[in-house]
Amino acid sequence: MILCLNLNAAIDKTIVVSSFEINKIHRPESVLALAGGKGCNVARALKTLGEEPIICGWVGGFAGQFIEKELHQEGIQTDFVLTDFESRTCTSILDHENQTLTEIYERGEPVPADKVEHLRDHIRTIIGKYQAVTLSGSLPPGVPVDFYAGVIEIAREAGVMTFLDTSGDALRKGVEAGPFFVKPNESEARVLLGLQPDETFDFAQGAAEISKEFGTNVLLSLGAEGAVVAKGQEIFVAKNPTVEAKSAVGSGDCTLAGVTYGVLHGFSLEESIIRGVAAGTANTLTIGAGQFKLVDFERLCEQVQIFRR
Ligand SMILES: Nc1ncnc2c1ncn2[C@@H]1O[C@H](COP(=O)(O)OP(=O)(O)OP(=O)(O)O)[C@@H](O)[C@H]1O
Ligand SMILES: [Mg+2]
Repeated sequence: MILCLNLNAAIDKTIVVSSFEINKIHRPESVLALAGGKGCNVARALKTLGEEPIICGWVGGFAGQFIEKELHQEGIQTDFVLTDFESRTCTSILDHENQTLTEIYERGEPVPADKVEHLRDHIRTIIGKYQAVTLSGSLPPGVPVDFYAGVIEIAREAGVMTFLDTSGDALRKGVEAGPFFVKPNESEARVLLGLQPDETFDFAQGAAEISKEFGTNVLLSLGAEGAVVAKGQEIFVAKNPTVEAKSAVGSGDCTLAGVTYGVLHGFSLEESIIRGVAAGTANTLTIGAGQFKLVDFERLCEQVQIFRR
């Protein structure tokens, strides 16, 4: 069983309209509402791979009930701590005609200190049941930046593997706690290397530097280009198969899921990377964050090229 932290839960609502204009009334062609958050995408991907993910975090109010119900309908179990306030809604307005996407992301209410404590204690109590924990996505307001770092320490004490994918200070603090695996993209890697947002760097060397400094396995994902991976001084380059991508939203989350799946099934790091890159790429072939077809994943596993550098 794999515990997937999804701390910043939301209803992800997509409203499809034609000819969207500000200051106008619109009657949507369709409205789609899903349980959102990076941890949900990771759990969806793990479920497709045949795993049994359980999502943990905070939810509240009617929106929280909706998020739980949606996940259960997808066959994903939840173990949320309830808050006294409504979970947030993130709204995307998709206009096919003008090919625009307008996104309105609520920040959400701050999580009170006692609820932060409650979740941390809860994770400490249940962690022993799990083989691995994925920690992905941003932290809601009110949550200390070292929350992931604390969970990584709790997991280490319990002998549970940790797979981290976040950004900013939560990433820096988290990686300092020495997770088993971390998946920055290019801009997140810059934060870890202390580089400016526009500063160029050698990706393989950058990954090796992060791996050495924090004693963790690093997969630096590079969108359609694939990924570079470092385990100390060992460096691998994974070349992506060429595909006709429909939507890459959630690809990073699927990469994290694919690697977690590989490692837990006893595959080598190299073989697990292949599974991560294949899952990230498969995600681009199906619209929907964290959704892909198993046949696409299996075919792509044969097509990912990996070599040592
Ligand atoms: N346009 C694309 N075409 C093919 N494969 C892609 C594409 N974008 C991403 N991928 C695959 O998914 C992996 C992860 O993607 P990416 O580097 O964009 O992660 P990310 O920036 O963390 O994304 P996310 O938005 O999910 O956080 C890549 O290493 C690659 O294998
Ligand atoms: Mg990402």
